[in-house]
Amino acid sequence: MKTVVKISGSIFDEVGAEERIKELASVFEKYVQDGNSLAIVVGGGKRSRELIELGRKLGATEDVLDEIGIDITRINAKLLISCIKDSYPQVITDLREADIAWSVKKIPVAGGLSPGHSTNAVAALLAEHLKADLFINSTKAGGVYDKDPKKYPDARLMERVSIEELKKIIKGSSEAGTYELLDEVSIGIIQRSKIRTLVTGTGTAEIKKALYGENVGTMIVFERI
Ligand code: UTP
Repeated sequence: MKTVVKISGSIFDEVGAEERIKELASVFEKYVQDGNSLAIVVGGGKRSRELIELGRKLGATEDVLDEIGIDITRINAKLLISCIKDSYPQVITDLREADIAWSVKKIPVAGGLSPGHSTNAVAALLAEHLKADLFINSTKAGGVYDKDPKKYPDARLMERVSIEELKKIIKGSSEAGTYELLDEVSIGIIQRSKIRTLVTGTGTAEIKKALYGENVGTMIVFERI
């Protein structure tokens, strides 16, 4: 299997980050030892949001704020690289560098690439570029719900969601500003290349299950359900 995983920057913020990151790293190492190819994209988490907020108050323009966010994602990527044995030693800053990493049987790890989108979009682009069989998007949301789970206790985790339905859910929730999922840029890339995408939670056990094809989170499908 060729797989791209996006991991949330939130794991670098938590108490016990050291153990969490080591656990994840060993899951990734084992997955590659089992004969799979893997590429990883790391988010910025709380530190990027806080510094972007500070920069905004100081008068930085949006593109500069994006660059600050990218810098933090790359720091997180460096931290992860330092504890994965088979990782490519440098943070990937261009999609084609991931080809080089795979050609020498190493795991490419990227943060952000360029202003104007999120690391979810980077992960979708990497999955597209590498012709991945699977894109695992691990998010704090844990999957796609039929309505905002923070607002509605009866919200239901959907096992599958069509891309058209997902677009409607995202549009509705971004207006409310509460329910964080994939952004529109990522959705566009997933749709144009019909990337097999699974939205899961951030727990190590869940990411491991997702890698090995167990039923977790929400699968995005391209036909009507
Ligand atoms: P993230 O994608 O990490 O946002 O990028 P996030 O919401 O913190 O994600 P999680 O929770 O860790 O998964 C942080 C910021 O970096 C900039 C954007 O400003 C984004 O909000 N960024 C990131 C870019 O401009 N381009 C990129 O390619 C990636």
